[in-house]
Amino acid sequence: MTSQPRAQRRRLVVGNWKMNGTRDANSRLLQEILSNWKPLEKSDAAICPPFVYLEQVAQALSASQLYWGGQSVNPNDSGAYTGEISAKMLIDQGCRYVIVGHNERRRLQSESDDYVARQFVAAQAEGLIPILCVGESSEQREQGKALETIGRQLQAVLDIAGLQAFATAIVAYEPIWAVGTGITATPEEAAQVHAFIRKQFASLGHELVILYGGSVKPENAAELFAKEDIDGALLGGASLQAKDFIAICQSAEVAGK
Ligand code: PGA
Repeated sequence: MTSQPRAQRRRLVVGNWKMNGTRDANSRLLQEILSNWKPLEKSDAAICPPFVYLEQVAQALSASQLYWGGQSVNPNDSGAYTGEISAKMLIDQGCRYVIVGHNERRRLQSESDDYVARQFVAAQAEGLIPILCVGESSEQREQGKALETIGRQLQAVLDIAGLQAFATAIVAYEPIWAVGTGITATPEEAAQVHAFIRKQFASLGHELVILYGGSVKPENAAELFAKEDIDGALLGGASLQAKDFIAICQSAEVAGK
């Protein structure tokens, strides 16, 4: 079996606000997004704010087409994990998605491949859709080890979650050198990795959604989304500007028609 034809896969654009925002600034941003929103038919869109603003985002978006999610999750159910948030708590806040394995957390919080795999499993067990981030550093790319690195990151999750778990998951390819740097992977570079990722899951025969992340802007989104295996984007900076976020959602909507 091969994966679903492109036209049947839903596109997805996710805004990762990272550690940005205040109650007032969020309120203005959400208002601007909602008042300029253009309905999507073939795509979904979501916002992942800092944990403390999930309730604010949930309230603002509850009557809209947009979803929301967490930026990380602790793999344990409850207990002595100071500062952490469980999958159940994210569900309590109405989250649909949770980002796991973002490279900033892999690097700054020393999250290992194995820890990310446990986050993925815990998220799914509660009914969240994990957005599993994978990607290589510039050194790994220069050494010709990009695909090997991504293969290892995926394998760690496959080992404990199994192939079937990816039927309800999202994978986001984020080359570390492109995140927050203004340097985007060329559509060809991204497409090569996306095709590699798709191949790992081809036997599932389902419509695994694979996002690209790393300096996506309204100016480069359409070109990226025109590639067969790029189903949407994980946005950092661009998700903090209502106009940019909406424009990128619209690019996903028209891609591959
Ligand atoms: P960026 O971030 O769009 O600002 O490069 C992407 C991400 O970290 O998900």
